[in-house]
Amino acid sequence: MKITKICCIGAGYVGGPTMAVIAQKCPQIQVTVVDLNAERIAAWNDENVHNIPIYEPGLDAIVGEARGRNLFFSTDVDKAIAEAQIIFISVNTPTKTYGKGKGMAADLKYIELCARQIARVAKDNKIVVEKSTLPVRTAEAIKSILDNTGNGVQFQILSNPEFLAEGTAVQDLLNPDRILIGGDATEEGRKAIQALVDVYANWVPEDKILTTNVWSSELSKLTANAFLAQRISSINAMSELCEKTGADVNEVAKAIGMDSRIGSKFLKASVGFGGSCFQKDILNLVYIAKSYGLNEVADYWEQVIIMNDHQKKRFSNNIVQTLYNTVSDKKIAFLGWAFKKDTNDTRESAAIYVADDLINEHAKIAVYDPKVSNKKILDDLNYLETRTADSNANSITSFTDPYEACQNAHAIAVLTEWDEFITYDWQKIYDSMQKPAFVFDGRNLLNGPNLEAIGFVYQAVGS
Ligand code: NAI
Repeated sequence: MKITKICCIGAGYVGGPTMAVIAQKCPQIQVTVVDLNAERIAAWNDENVHNIPIYEPGLDAIVGEARGRNLFFSTDVDKAIAEAQIIFISVNTPTKTYGKGKGMAADLKYIELCARQIARVAKDNKIVVEKSTLPVRTAEAIKSILDNTGNGVQFQILSNPEFLAEGTAVQDLLNPDRILIGGDATEEGRKAIQALVDVYANWVPEDKILTTNVWSSELSKLTANAFLAQRISSINAMSELCEKTGADVNEVAKAIGMDSRIGSKFLKASVGFGGSCFQKDILNLVYIAKSYGLNEVADYWEQVIIMNDHQKKRFSNNIVQTLYNTVSDKKIAFLGWAFKKDTNDTRESAAIYVADDLINEHAKIAVYDPKVSNKKILDDLNYLETRTADSNANSITSFTDPYEACQNAHAIAVLTEWDEFITYDWQKIYDSMQKPAFVFDGRNLLNGPNLEAIGFVYQAVGS
């Protein structure tokens, strides 16, 4: 089948960049990204390409090249579905906040709405691609909805999970480690798989395109995120032991990372992982395991989350303890709010939880992040519902100048590993702070001995 029109439902952190790269690499295919969120679509269509709603290095250039040529952003979901041969579903799949599975299972309501809309609108055969991260066997539910509510047309469901990392999304999409496509072993299924393989083969070497059955593909995405998060919790568990024993977690990480069986990536101790995916996907895995009665499997993976929560808590407790057991009315400057560098995404960022703990202790938080707005910071805190919005607004302020954020602070906490923090004039910052001036480096980013030479009391994670 020759593919000429693709649509993607969901113009978020995955749908936007993924489709921009497909459009750039496949000028012969018309790619339309649709979303219910009109504000988000308007931002994707903003004349000034620097105003697109997602910050990722290199993304603006790709959108600038393809937009209006063969890349379109629209709120007209029906039209895009009707015209496309391949429909990607890339909507959010957050943790359920109500009912059965609350706090654990994935909320599939947005996925189901998409399936019903596709069934209603489609007048010819479609390939429906799960791009969102989904519990294993979701394709079965989508298929059932499509077949039972559709207009008698044929649907093939493929699973094509996305492995990009925010902050390096464009590079990850241009040079993926692998593309995974799961589909049925029937002849129709094989044809659908081939159609999607042919799209990716425009720029991805064929030996990097893996095809599997649908269930393996769905479960591989949850497994990949579980393994990645587990490495972070493993090194963070060691960081606490290092602090007690005089070992240095950076040295330990280097020593074990040189073992080719272990490898050096994802061994950086920190205040804990954030992001919209790791926690949600592990909770989802735990829920699935429990639902099959696999309690040991569930407990094993749940420990990754427990360790991560502990690491965040330990970081805020240490700040309070070190500041003579009170941070009441003390200004604490946060460098960074995003969950990692080179993204404006703050979902589940460790900074939110550390701020919440410190505000409980009546601290005054001053935030500087190069890509996150004051409104976003307040929204993130309000979402926790720990206290009133007014009370949050009185306790946290954000600054557009890092030096102002740090002025008169008792302590600085580094929450995101933005490169620019390394190059600041730390003497100037020191001179403007209350003494003793503390730095709690939650990312092991800064040069400790240099800061100590200036006069700071410097604490890293795991040493
Ligand atoms: P997001 O929240 O940034 O974007 C989802 C978009 O879907 C929103 O703009 C929302 O308005 C839209 N939407 C929801 N229901 C809709 C409907 N019925 N019709 C039209 N639009 C609808 O989410 P994000 O981060 O892009 O994640 C999407 C999926 O990809 C999730 O399942 C996530 O787990 C997965 N994923 C995310 C990665 C990441 O780094 N953010 C990486 C790999 C997978």
